[in-house]
Amino acid sequence: MKLPDKLPTHVTLIMDGNGRWAKARGQERIYGHFEGVQSVRAVTEACVEWGIPYVSFYAFSEENWNRPQAEVMGLMELMMKTMRAELPTFMNNGVRFVVLGNRARLSDALNATIDDMMAQTAANARLTLILFMSYSGQWDIRQAAARMAREGGTDIGAYLVTAGFPDPDLLIRTSGEKRISNYMLWQTAYTEFVFTDTLWPDFRKEEFLAALNEFASRDRRFGKVK
Ligand code: FPP
Repeated sequence: MKLPDKLPTHVTLIMDGNGRWAKARGQERIYGHFEGVQSVRAVTEACVEWGIPYVSFYAFSEENWNRPQAEVMGLMELMMKTMRAELPTFMNNGVRFVVLGNRARLSDALNATIDDMMAQTAANARLTLILFMSYSGQWDIRQAAARMAREGGTDIGAYLVTAGFPDPDLLIRTSGEKRISNYMLWQTAYTEFVFTDTLWPDFRKEEFLAALNEFASRDRRFGKVK
């Protein structure tokens, strides 16, 4: 498959199916998350290579805090280790690393790592990689509305944690689920959705390319007549 002419500026991914992927192999759920990290790498590499300037991943929702403690702890540890390990790759490839979400719920150690990574990669300009952690769309709108009321602003978009970043052009959700699951509710007003049955750990470059081709075939009108 060829790379289409029309690429999204911002592609976002709901990484679903890690647990099922692990279960199908008789393994613990965390094993699926480990393998899922390789898919994050593959998609990120492809974005650098193909010139997509913004990529984001729904890594952990506000609702995910309700999972069994062992899985939550395992995921947090995995994310912290992965971030740290990827720093040299980010620097070599011009990747700016950003975490958005309810940071107050993350551990001090994780927040310190995130702050350090964000500071070190702040000037990288080839690709912006956003990890949504402890994020939910309703939480975002709530915190934005509260701050806006306090400060007397009028543009809610300017108060969302995504302020300054372009809205996603394309949202990809894996594993056959077809819902938004409290993700970027405001920001996806005109986003194109692509759903695939592939489980996240199996979602690699070929699958990503197929989704980009599907996106390129869509006729985006933004509510207007062409
Ligand atoms: C959904 O699968 C996946 C998650 C809740 C976590 C995804 C996170 C990662 C792959 C880590 C990425 C981290 C970095 C630092 C890049 P699920 O567990 O809901 O699967 P299921 O629906 O089959 O149960």
